Amino acid sequence: MATSYADMNPRILLVLISCILSVLTGLVLSRGGAGGAAARTRPLIGLSMDTLKEERWQKDRDLFVAEAGKLGADVEVLSANSSDTRQLADVEALITRKVDALVIIPKDAAAMSKAVNLAHQASIPVLAYDRLITGCDLDLYITFDNVKVGELQAQFLADRLPAAGKMRLLRIYGAKTDNNAKLFKQGQDNILQPLIAAGKVEVLHEDWADDWKPENAKKIINAAITKLGPNFDAILASNDGTAGGAIQALTEEGIAGKVLVTGQDADLAACQRLVQGTQTMTVYKPLHLLSKQAAELAVRLAKRQPVIARDVSPNGHTEVPSVFLPIHAVTKDNLRETVIRDGLRSEKDVFGQ
Ligand code: GAL
Repeated sequence: MATSYADMNPRILLVLISCILSVLTGLVLSRGGAGGAAARTRPLIGLSMDTLKEERWQKDRDLFVAEAGKLGADVEVLSANSSDTRQLADVEALITRKVDALVIIPKDAAAMSKAVNLAHQASIPVLAYDRLITGCDLDLYITFDNVKVGELQAQFLADRLPAAGKMRLLRIYGAKTDNNAKLFKQGQDNILQPLIAAGKVEVLHEDWADDWKPENAKKIINAAITKLGPNFDAILASNDGTAGGAIQALTEEGIAGKVLVTGQDADLAACQRLVQGTQTMTVYKPLHLLSKQAAELAVRLAKRQPVIARDVSPNGHTEVPSVFLPIHAVTKDNLRETVIRDGLRSEKDVFGQ
């Protein structure tokens, strides 16, 4: 009997080594990640986006890719241009690409549950970014306090009720397919319901803006003006894009700047409208924090490392481990202490000098 490897018959030794090697390779491949394709040295993250139409998403993409890069990971970005079928195809392409983790910004919260199931069949974990994916075993969710967004928007109006009579209010909700739009509305309702019940606020017209499109928001306000004339005091618009569409309708009617208008996202155009006085408030969501923490979580998922998420979001199927980030109400009076201080906007771009 051979006493050491050196004494062994060389052919037997060879067989032994190749057996060990194939077992090791099999192990790596079967784990389906942490070196998806051929044991990558750098994790590859797939980022599937609904759209790049709103300004913020372009910033989210750039910040996320940069943060992941700092953590030694590569990111493959695909944007679905607001098409569900296209987004599902994008996710399938990223799965075929054997990404180590998927980050999805869903166009349609429910439709993307199929994408999560496909990813899990390929043992790829999924992080939902900003918007929840419902009806599936989603691994992780990171976003802002979206109910609070709605509360800040409605509270801003509640703090500016007319001295006499009711506030005559128009409401523009976001895309019905976006779970966030429902959370923003829920937050707004939390503040408005008691005021409506007390007869201090009356909602004269309300509707959902498909795909969050500004032109759809403009149509909603045009319809309200046709019905009511210029007889209203405020527009509770759920984001800056829809606020911009609404303000176009007010401008055509010659009443821009005379009606309170809310928003969200601190888009550059919205910050400029705050200075001009045609929009009255927006909600600032620090994208640099969201993208940084999302990249950290995605890279940990890709490396199959444990992640910490202190909150949960019920998505109709499970309690998804979640991370919620803070937000800030912004008016023309605190632009410098918020979006300019954090470098999201420059003094020159906002104030023009
Ligand atoms: C929401 C997002 C908002 C807004 C909107 C339109 O889900 O939270 O920041 O931009 O989509 O894209």
